[in-house]
Amino acid sequence: MNTITNEHRRTLFHDGYVVLKNVVSQSLVDSARARIKSAKKGESLAEAVALTDLVNRSSVTPILQEVMGQFDPPSHCHVGVTKQSLPRDFYTPLGYKEKDLPYFGHGMHAEGLFTVAPPQERIEGTPDEIYSRMIASGPRGDIGRSADVIGSNTDPLFQDPEMTLSVGSFTAFVIVALNDQTLEGVGQTAVVPGGHRVLEAFYRWQYENGGRIGPEGPGWPRFNYNVPNGAGHVYLPDAVQKKLIALDSKAPETTPDGIAWPRPKQILMEPGDAAITIFQMPHTGTRNEYGTESRKNMIFRIRNKKRQPGKIVTGVSDHPDRGMMGEWLSYEEGNNPWVRSKKALVNMWNEWDGMQDIVDQETPKLPEITFDTVP
Ligand SMILES: [Fe+2]
Repeated sequence: MNTITNEHRRTLFHDGYVVLKNVVSQSLVDSARARIKSAKKGESLAEAVALTDLVNRSSVTPILQEVMGQFDPPSHCHVGVTKQSLPRDFYTPLGYKEKDLPYFGHGMHAEGLFTVAPPQERIEGTPDEIYSRMIASGPRGDIGRSADVIGSNTDPLFQDPEMTLSVGSFTAFVIVALNDQTLEGVGQTAVVPGGHRVLEAFYRWQYENGGRIGPEGPGWPRFNYNVPNGAGHVYLPDAVQKKLIALDSKAPETTPDGIAWPRPKQILMEPGDAAITIFQMPHTGTRNEYGTESRKNMIFRIRNKKRQPGKIVTGVSDHPDRGMMGEWLSYEEGNNPWVRSKKALVNMWNEWDGMQDIVDQETPKLPEITFDTVP
């Protein structure tokens, strides 16, 4: 398959993601699997051509060009290999034990957020003290609160020097499956269908209420100090979580403290299938509890070239307005990357050139999502 149907585009619009069956040939899948198998212990496969070929030499590229637009061919791949495991006894970035989180240990999040290693012993102190210790625990150590701080995931605490944007952004995820993921519980990437509209609406609400977008903007604290380890990352604000739960007809599952969490839908794929997901989609990895092999999803982060035509995007960074380790990039006079990225966050289909007719047809059919009081 070399093209995308109207039905696929409508699915992408409404659900925020679409699975394209069989868009990567068996020989590309075989080469990628062989490359992973031949990796030496500790060897990085991020630049392995057999992996970037999954996009660059498959139908994924013409399809993505058609539906989204021009983009840099990825030179790097996020190698998403999840080994089999039973529920485990460590604290995740949400501040709960992995075994206590529902939906196969979900960690549903908005993409592009600062993250540091979660404390494995309960952290004590006032919220201000805990905040300071958390942001000082990244690779740059204790340099105070500023946009120079980066997380252990390399995401800046804030993207911009004025500290008004705390979400790195791009346009699309491409996820290529290299193993059978047709039965639930084998470590699938999971999403909340329709959740992209909720998160975009929340970003817009923040934008219209002072312009600070992401954690530490209105309605979105950075950390939750009331979780079991005392310092959980707030990966989605409460107001968004509530609306995501309401999208689901089934009652949500809870952590032992009674907190309800939105149910993610596992993306079921076979080797050679690819999922395309809009950036704003809340998503998570899941535990590979029942697999007979490691889960292998090759993940690419793609940005429409229009956003910053002068900058090369490698395919792995979720904060390409800055360098991989948070370095400051230079932009020509009149090119304010934070203004552009804020606009992209609150107008999520603007960078999808091949979706405009569907957006025009379908948007009027949907109720507006509003956040009109401080959540
Ligand atoms: Fe993510």
